[in-house]
Formats: sequence, structure tokens, C-alpha cells
Amino acid sequence: MNLNDCYNFSDFRKLAKKKLPAPIFHYIDGGSDDEETLKRNTDSFSKFDLVPNILASVGEPDLSTKVLGTKIDMPLFLSPVAMQRLFHHDGDKASARAAEKFGTFYSMSTMATSSIEEIANKAGGPKMFQIYIHKTQGLTENLIDRCKSSGFNAMCLTVDTIVAGNRERDHKWGFTTPPRLTLKSLMSFAMHPMWTMNYLTHEKFQLPNVSNFVKKSSSIAKGVMEYINEQYDPAMNWKDAEYCIKRWGGPFALKGVMSVEDAKRAVDIGASAIILSNHGGRQLDGSRSPFDQLPLIADEVGGKIEIILDGGIRRGTHVLKALSLGATACSFGKGFLFALGAGGQRGVESILQKMHDEIKRDMILMGCKSIKELNKSKVTLR
Ligand code: LAC
Repeated sequence: MNLNDCYNFSDFRKLAKKKLPAPIFHYIDGGSDDEETLKRNTDSFSKFDLVPNILASVGEPDLSTKVLGTKIDMPLFLSPVAMQRLFHHDGDKASARAAEKFGTFYSMSTMATSSIEEIANKAGGPKMFQIYIHKTQGLTENLIDRCKSSGFNAMCLTVDTIVAGNRERDHKWGFTTPPRLTLKSLMSFAMHPMWTMNYLTHEKFQLPNVSNFVKKSSSIAKGVMEYINEQYDPAMNWKDAEYCIKRWGGPFALKGVMSVEDAKRAVDIGASAIILSNHGGRQLDGSRSPFDQLPLIADEVGGKIEIILDGGIRRGTHVLKALSLGATACSFGKGFLFALGAGGQRGVESILQKMHDEIKRDMILMGCKSIKELNKSKVTLR
């Protein structure tokens, strides 16, 4: 099996599973507790059906939309994901360059394995930075200021990860950052010699955005859950969010908003967007899916704030359903990560091409000339 055999998300996942050592595959693939929410994120798209219109002289549909102050060429972009260097030796460089080719947002995690400055130099497309507020004083300001001088277009603050979700697969497989050879993981690394050789012969694993502040970030092998619980500030509050919005002064999203009440408050503090997300089902298991919550949120704050739907997107039709119910754009994490693991930049380009083609084809079949034409009349509850 190689990249040419991958037609959809499941194919990329299958190939990534072959190529990646088990602890790393399961870090991407897994959710928290019983993984109910993880599963629900995608399943919930089946609750609504698309209702096409005919004879609409569609021709060539326009897939572009404006989100967070930037016009993007397709209504789907890459969610911020930590430590991409583990999934492919080109890491963030690969995903940022692929997103640039498709004229859509690449998002960088605070815990990226490339620095803000490096990616700003190497990729010219729209870029969003995602902040995790650490307990360490001064880091948040440092990140915001560096993003400003590096020309990032937008920022988001992740608000759903003040303590780590219970990811049992990470315990089971001994996932550490950087990967550590334990008796348990040794077999898996030995069985993936290509990955292991690439890992050892390319740039050293590091978290350059935080390394001046969190001394242990690059040298001590620890689990991601342990890192989150040690370093992130669980006392983060609305004032902190407001502070970040003011200091940044540009397009800003709160990532991980799920309740109507919080969505309204995001409007009040001047956020430009909310990202409806449950962190890919990796945090609070048993919580609602972003897609299930979308109609309620859109009814209350639609038109007052941009709504980005993140979670469970696997097909172009999922994007069309979300846009019809009031989302401005969608983002996906696992959706591009398996493609990154399967084939680096070429893999990410391949999944973006497929999603682009699906969205376009399905818009034609729906009788929609532009994203604006996707509204409530295009979907119905099953
Ligand atoms: C995670 C954090 C690091 O979900 O975003 O693993």
C-alpha cells in the first residue's frame, strides 16, 4: 500500500498505521476514556441529510470563504496539532507548505516541533497560532509578540485543555515526548525501521516555542498528559482570554467553546471567532459533538461571531452540512495527520486535494454556486 492507494481518510489511516510506531499512531488515533465522544464527532453528521437543488446553472462553484480576516480558497483548514515532527520528519514544515498550496490556513500549536520564526520563513500561506497558557510567567506575551513580528494572520486560545484528558492508549503504549525506548516500545520502533531511521537522522526533537521558558521541554521524556498537568495553567479564566485578545489586537478565536452561554460571552469579550471543538474527543468523554451543538450556537450567535466547526470531519459532505447549519469554515486534525504520517507534505496535499474535489463536486450536485448559498434550507434532520 502506498499514497496512490489512498482515496479517503480510512485509507490514509491504514497507511499511517503501517508506517508509524504504535505509540505514535495511537497518540493520533486515540481519544479519552471510552472514546465515546471521539466516535460521536463523526457519527453525528449522519443526523442531517443534504437536500440538493437542480438546474441551478452552477458551472464552476466558488469554494472561497473569509475567516479570521483572511480569504481562504476552500472552507476547510488544518487544526493546530502538537509535535508533528513525530508523525513525519518534516513535521510542521510539511503541513504548512501543503496548506499554502491550497490557499488555506495552517495552524501552529504552542507545542510545535518547529518555531514560529522558522515556519514564517518557510511557508507563505495564511497562518494561525494556537496558544496554551502555561503557568510560567511571560511565555504567553512572548508567543503573542513573536507571532506579531513573524506576520501570523490569526490566533486562537485553546480553552478545553486545562487538565489532560484520560488517554488510556497513551498509558498502554508508553507514549512519551520525545519517544523513549522502553522495553514496551522497543519492539514497535524496531518494527518500523524507516520511521526510526528518519527520526534519528533528521533535526532533533524539540519544542522551540517554549524551550526558553520550559527548560525540561526537550530533554526529558515524559508523557503528554504529564506535561499538560505540570505546565498548563488550570486557573485560566475569561480575563486571561480578554488579555490575549487585547495584546494580539488582530483576528482571535476561542478554541473549544461548546455551550451557548460561553459562545455569547466570547462575543462579549470581542473574540472574532469561536471554534466549536471538543479537542478531537481527547478531553471530556461523554461530551457533545461540535456538529450536534452547531445549530443551537448558530441560532444564538450566528452573524455576531464567526463559527468554525472542528471535530470529526472526514468527508466533503461533512463540511457542506456544517456550512449549511451556520459554520463559516471547518477545520480538521486527525483528518490531515494520518496523511502526514502516511506521506509527509505529499500526503497532506493529497488529502487536501481530495477534500477540495469532494467539496467542489458536492456543491455542484447540491446546486450551489458559492458557500453563501449553503444555508438551513439545504439540510434536513433525518
Ligand atoms: C493533545 C494536546 C497536546 O491533545 O493538544 O495531545
